[in-house]
Amino acid sequence: MPMSDAKSIQLSITGLTKVYRSGEGVRDFSLHVNKGELVTLLGPSGCGKTTVLRTIGGFLEPDAGDVRIEGESVLHLPPEKRPTAMVFQSYNLWPHMNVFDNLAFGLKLRKFKKQEIKERVAYALDLVRLPGSEKKYPSQLSGGQQQRVAVARALLLEPKVLLLDEPFSALDAKLRLEIREELRDIQAANKLTMVFVTHDQEEALSISDRIVVMNGGSSEQIATPQDIYDHPDTLFVAEFIGRMNFLAGQAAGEHIRMQTVAFRNDKGLSGNVKIAVRPEDVQLLPDESAQEGLPGTIRQVMVLGHYAEVSVDTAAGVTKAFVPREEARSLHPGSTVTIGFTRATAYAVPS
Ligand SMILES: Nc1ncnc2c1ncn2[C@@H]1O[C@H](COP(=O)(O)OP(=O)(O)O)[C@@H](O)[C@H]1O
Ligand SMILES: [Mg+2]
Repeated sequence: MPMSDAKSIQLSITGLTKVYRSGEGVRDFSLHVNKGELVTLLGPSGCGKTTVLRTIGGFLEPDAGDVRIEGESVLHLPPEKRPTAMVFQSYNLWPHMNVFDNLAFGLKLRKFKKQEIKERVAYALDLVRLPGSEKKYPSQLSGGQQQRVAVARALLLEPKVLLLDEPFSALDAKLRLEIREELRDIQAANKLTMVFVTHDQEEALSISDRIVVMNGGSSEQIATPQDIYDHPDTLFVAEFIGRMNFLAGQAAGEHIRMQTVAFRNDKGLSGNVKIAVRPEDVQLLPDESAQEGLPGTIRQVMVLGHYAEVSVDTAAGVTKAFVPREEARSLHPGSTVTIGFTRATAYAVPS
């Protein structure tokens, strides 16, 4: 690896293992995060996201592996000595202190001068769009505002890596959308290095430079949101991310057959396979004109705003297609159609 690449790695997790007495936890987890990068740990509840994050922050001691920040192992450091700051799901503000005191606390510990503390607090409140709220108490703020203060407090510590564990999951949907866009703006403008945890795939897809999809204590795929969406490495990722049809097929030699349709068997699979197709990659061809494809019968047409979701019964399974609303006008339950696929990926069926 050339020096310049090695230098840009801000956080390095290698072979991290932390197994609880229950046998659950995280096994052999590795991840490298570049300076200024926002990486999201995404996966269902219990897959080990918080375990990884708390190990980076120093709240948990790993059984094996290393955590390095700017090349130096931080394992021997307690949380408050690590160059990290953490934002939790619950805001963790001190209720008896006003916003200024909540924010100034860390700076006072670090012996900043009064005037500088004032300026820094004001700057941080500006960043999170709460200018002038120094004198307010947490109870006078909404959930979203309290979480903004929590983010400001973490930013004031000027961490080399900012850790956020489902920070917005207690907020309602609309606010969550707003605040995550703001966070992404702040992160990008200040080139912050962030590890963000969520179980919400839409949140992960929308804000991340890269996503780690986790399952049962290990990572299934680490890639950009686009790659995760377009090329899921495993059946788990294909099932977890976005809408997907799964159709039954058989692999033998060079081909995978799905009833009347054949695909190239790129992965050298054999026997029964699942063929994954996104609804936007399904084409409905008028019955007469179609030369090849999968024959089917329309079961249902649901108009959802600017597009319609069409369910089609086929011998390989029910297939959903997204079609423009205009096109859906001519589609009716009971009509026969032929289905074409612009993209499909086959996966071995777990035995
Ligand atoms: N302190 C603990 N003691 C025993 N088991 C734990 C503890 N913390 C977490 N676990 C288990 O380890 C697994 C991973 O937990 P966690 O990292 O919190 O997952 P996530 O944040 O993805 O929901 C879960 O099955 C959880 O029940
Ligand atoms: Mg968690």
